[in-house]
Formats: sequence, structure tokens, C-alpha cells
Amino acid sequence: MSQPITLIATAAMGLESIVKNEVKQLGYENIQTDNGRVMYESNILGIARSNLWLRTADRVKLLMGEFYAYSFEELFEQTKALPWEEWISKEGFIHVVGKSHKSKLYSVPDCQSIVKKAIVSRLQEAYSISSRLEETGARYKIEVAILKDQVTLSIDTSGSGLHKRGYRVGQGEAPLKETLAAALIQLTNWTPNDPLVDPFTGSGTIPIEAALIGQNIAPGFNREFSAEEWDVIPSSVWERALEEAEDLANYDQPLDITGSDISHQAVEIAQQNAMEAGLVDLINWKQMRVQDFVPKTEKGYLIGNPPYGERLGEKDTVEEIYKALGSIMSSYPKWSVYIMTSYKEFEKCYGQSATKKRKLFNGFIQTNYYQYFGKK
Ligand SMILES: C[S@@+](CC[C@H](N)C(=O)[O-])C[C@H]1O[C@@H](n2cnc3c(N)ncnc32)[C@H](O)[C@@H]1O
Repeated sequence: MSQPITLIATAAMGLESIVKNEVKQLGYENIQTDNGRVMYESNILGIARSNLWLRTADRVKLLMGEFYAYSFEELFEQTKALPWEEWISKEGFIHVVGKSHKSKLYSVPDCQSIVKKAIVSRLQEAYSISSRLEETGARYKIEVAILKDQVTLSIDTSGSGLHKRGYRVGQGEAPLKETLAAALIQLTNWTPNDPLVDPFTGSGTIPIEAALIGQNIAPGFNREFSAEEWDVIPSSVWERALEEAEDLANYDQPLDITGSDISHQAVEIAQQNAMEAGLVDLINWKQMRVQDFVPKTEKGYLIGNPPYGERLGEKDTVEEIYKALGSIMSSYPKWSVYIMTSYKEFEKCYGQSATKKRKLFNGFIQTNYYQYFGKK
């Protein structure tokens, strides 16, 4: 199947432009960005490449159709009119999920069951089956999303969310989503030739994602995707995408990446995760309080996700941490410092106004990404 298809890379709120950049770097065109999603024209190989390479997207969906529907009949007929048999095999297991917002068709369970009936009816006709579909084969998760009466029907190609890279065997307290950690790095001007330090490393997500970026390793290299089970995508397509990823990886790129944390246990977990990712020798790990951090180079990048002080009694501790960090870094003006926290008084404690701030969500917590650019 070589005809163009439309893919939707879903993105956490605020990360759409970063996902868009990644899609552009993959070479895809006609990119449209909307709230929480980036749509682009691609082809069947693009399903494999997008899943393998997108570091900051949540998942990749195949767009089947968009239309307006104001009644269940309209929803049924327009769903049935789509060429589901081009993607779903005779034995395919069809699971429909849904959401509806500000729309006449607001009952999500009803919409899900109508979409399922319409797809089943289409497949029964296409495959000349008069009995029930067996549904013993590959899984197809279909989403019916209705916004202001506009229906979007898509099939998920990823399976588990793309943040599940396959390396997190352990986690510390409040670990960052891998997709967000990759975004934090991509929002800086760090290059693989610069030193990078995360002094609040927890489960090591930032250093591990930086090492993957630094050696141009596809983040999805170590996992599987649900579209790999689809008959319609030959295994040669996945093999080609994997070979391409192997060719593009630059395992000879030297890196100077350090992750440290006050907690011994966190450092051990970070090491185990890095080991699982095959990167353990590439990253320096250390148990250390941020108060004792001394940059070893004149220039570098510090990227961190410190405690936010949201728990009772934590306020004084985080203020002390932010103050200490600000005081240390004031002696190293060529270092760029990037800190994500929800703590409103961060700049005051750090002792300096950020060069730039960006609102980001860490899960449901609204944070600011404070960016201090190092002097050239
Ligand atoms: C929000 S978590 C970081 C999570 C990490 N980004 C991840 O993905 O797992 C904050 C981390 O800061 C560490 N921490 C707290 N106080 C510290 C201090 N004074 N110096 C260094 N690390 C500290 C905690 O042990 C915790 O692992």
C-alpha cells in the first residue's frame, strides 16, 4: 500500500511545537498543529518510522476519517462508509474507545457501540461474512473523538504510550515521563559535544534521554508497537525502519553526561535503567547533594526537575535547594541552567530572573521551565 495516509502524533499540552519539529525532521510534510495533536501526511513506512523516532509524542494514530455527525444514524452511516477493510483483517479484534466534548452526540458509550457496529457491518460485507466476526486476531484500538460535532476516527498504531521506551525497570519518586524529559532537553541548545548535568536525577530519565539523543538512537528501538501485528503492514516495512535506525545511530559519539541525586537508592535505580537502555557506561552517576555540586568545565548545561515543594513542610527545604543552586551557578556564567518547577517563587530563591520562561505541564501540575542562557 503506497497511497498517502494521514497520521496524528498526539502531544501533551504545550509540547505540540516540539512534536511538530520532530515530524519535520523525519521529513514529513503538510503538518497541521492543533490542541494536543500534530497531523501530517505520510505513508505506511511512516507508521514504523514515527513510532520508532518520535521522542516527545504520546502516540501515533492513523486518521481514518473526519466528518460532522448530529445523530446516531449519521455517525453509523459515515463510519460505515470508510474503508476499514484496507486496514483491519478478517479476524481483527476491534476495541473502540471514545470521548465527546461540546457535541450533540454526548453519550460516549453509545457512540462507541455505534462505531463498533458500523465497522463490523462494513467488514462483514467486505469479507462476505454473514455470521459474527471472530475477533481472534490482531488488536485494533479505534478512537471516536467528537469535538463540537466534528467526529475524528482513528486507529492507534502505538499500543502502549510512546513514553514506554522499555528501559524503565525501576522508578524513584515523581519520575518524569520520558517524552517530557526528551522535550526538556530539546528545548535547550545542548549539543552532544557539551557537558550536561542533571543534579536531581531520580530515576535518571533526563540523562538517559540525553544519551539517546546524543547518539541519535531511536527511542522506540527496544519495544514493540501494536501496528506490528497488522497483516496489512508487511514485516519488511518494520525491518526497513529498524535498519535505517541502526544505520543512523552514532554509537561513537562521545558524551559527557552526569546524573546525580541526594538519594543513594535513586542513583542505583537510575543506573539500572541506564543498564537496561544499554547506556550505563555512557553516563556518569553520582550520589551527591546539589549543594555540593561544582561544575568541572567552564561551560555546560544543567537540566533539572527538582522537588517542587508541594508537600506539606517541604517549602523551606526546596527554597534552600533553589538558593544553593543559584549561588553555585552565579560563579559559572557560561553554564546554561534549565529548571522545571511549579514553585512560584523559584526565581526569587534562585536569585536571578530567568532569560526565558515556558509554561509546561508535568502530568496535571502546571510548571514553569525556567531557562537561564549561559554567556557565550
Ligand atoms: C522530582 S524528582 C526528579 C525525578 C527525575 N527527573 C526522574 O525522572 O525520575 C526530584 C529528585 O530530587 C532529589 N533531591 C531532593 N533534594 C535534593 C538535594 N538537596 N540534592 C540533590 N537531589 C535532591 C530527590 O531525591 C528526587 O529524586
